[in-house]
Amino acid sequence: MKKNLTIIDHPLVQHKLTLMRKKETPCSSFRRLLREISMLLAYEVTRDLPISDTTIETPLCRTKSPIVTGKKLALVSIMRAGNGLLDGMLELIPSARVGFVGLYRDEKTLEPVEYYCKVPDQLEDRLVIAVDPMLATGNSSVAAIDQLKESGAKELRLLCLLAAPEGVARVGGAHPEVPIFTAALDDHLNEQGYIVPGLGDAGDRMFGTV
Ligand code: URA
Repeated sequence: MKKNLTIIDHPLVQHKLTLMRKKETPCSSFRRLLREISMLLAYEVTRDLPISDTTIETPLCRTKSPIVTGKKLALVSIMRAGNGLLDGMLELIPSARVGFVGLYRDEKTLEPVEYYCKVPDQLEDRLVIAVDPMLATGNSSVAAIDQLKESGAKELRLLCLLAAPEGVARVGGAHPEVPIFTAALDDHLNEQGYIVPGLGDAGDRMFGTV
């Protein structure tokens, strides 16, 4: 396995992902599954956050008990499909700040075009988790990470649902220090830049567009 890549192989993640891949899964179920799976992904992408003991009082006694310490979190959606991962992640990490980088993929060149950027301040003091369900060519992720670094981010992770080997290599080449978390590493990209076997266009499937 590539050293910048973590595959989240939890059985619940894999089961939900299989349901999401099925072409007959309707938009409403796709959205519900995405919300559920994003909570599980959030759990794994934050697994190594530093904790330290604090003293509290339970109804019975004083005791030491761990809390999450270290950098505050910023979740940054790479729009539009990244928005689908936010709700579930924010259920688990309600205090996270949220940013948006809007990129669309030029259908001919497959190159990302930025149309929006709004990110929390003091990104340099935060652990920034960029989220995009599909790591395909990697061009959008690289452009978003470039933008986040320009905005000050120093510590970044990239969380996606599905990754293509081409995308992992592209992000790894441009930003080797950024760990990538995904539920599956699929086989390849087709000529249109879709992940195969994949699940189709994630934005279309979650929002019911075509
Ligand atoms: N974006 C998607 O939504 N799906 C793919 O397969 C590739 C990029």
